[in-house]
Amino acid sequence: MLKIVSFIICFNYVFAYFTLPGSCPEEVTLKEDFRLPDFYGKWYQSYHYSSDGQQQNNCSSLELLTRPSGIYLNQSRVDRGLFHRFSIGKLDINPRLEDAARLDLIFAFKNAPRRLKTRRYPFHVLATNYNYFATVYTCQYSPLIDKHFLYVWILSRNPILNDVSKELAIKPLQQIGIDSSKLVKDDRSKCVPKYFEDIPTEPMTFRFPVPI
Ligand SMILES: *[C@@H]1O[C@H](CO)[C@@H](O)[C@H](O)[C@H]1NC(C)=O
Ligand SMILES: *[C@@H]1O[C@H](CO)[C@@H](O)[C@H](O)[C@H]1NC(C)=O
Repeated sequence: MLKIVSFIICFNYVFAYFTLPGSCPEEVTLKEDFRLPDFYGKWYQSYHYSSDGQQQNNCSSLELLTRPSGIYLNQSRVDRGLFHRFSIGKLDINPRLEDAARLDLIFAFKNAPRRLKTRRYPFHVLATNYNYFATVYTCQYSPLIDKHFLYVWILSRNPILNDVSKELAIKPLQQIGIDSSKLVKDDRSKCVPKYFEDIPTEPMTFRFPVPI
């Protein structure tokens, strides 16, 4: 019985997460000649789009970190207006120069069951001019129900994205079938929450752990 219940809960979760029909957008043109060194430093998430309509955080920012073992991405945010949290993923850099914008993010979970220990998600750069804006997206497909999940980051070097940069940043969204009116602006009015967590937690942007 418990098995059936947990299966149903899991199934509902799958349906709520993967909502867009079919597989991930194909033949998407990414940023040409993407230069990772110029992408370094801090980016503010000024708008985002999450295809499942969830919005549980604001004040999000992304920052690239260099460590002896590689290049990492620190995603920080304020969850539910209360908790300051961050997640660290390792960037998997595409060795083919023409695919430089086709990055992957790998998250490691030490305490998870073996097949869930590492999770890999695409982190594809659609556009950027390095100094003002960047548009990045991820997509996850579920063959089981033939639907996909999309998340888009509209990033800004400054806490406020200027109008010209915003126009340039949203242009490539048509390629992945996203109407820019569906972008949600991040609220930066209360970025000093009550609780501060100083150990990495699960990423909120990619919530589905297993390919299903
Ligand atoms: C990640 O970013 C947050 C916010 O800037 C910071 O508080 C946290 O210390 C960073 N984590 C690491 C490991 O650099
Ligand atoms: C941030 O996000 C939460 C949703 O989880 C929302 O309740 C809150 O009003 C938002 N804004 C601020 C300033 O915290």
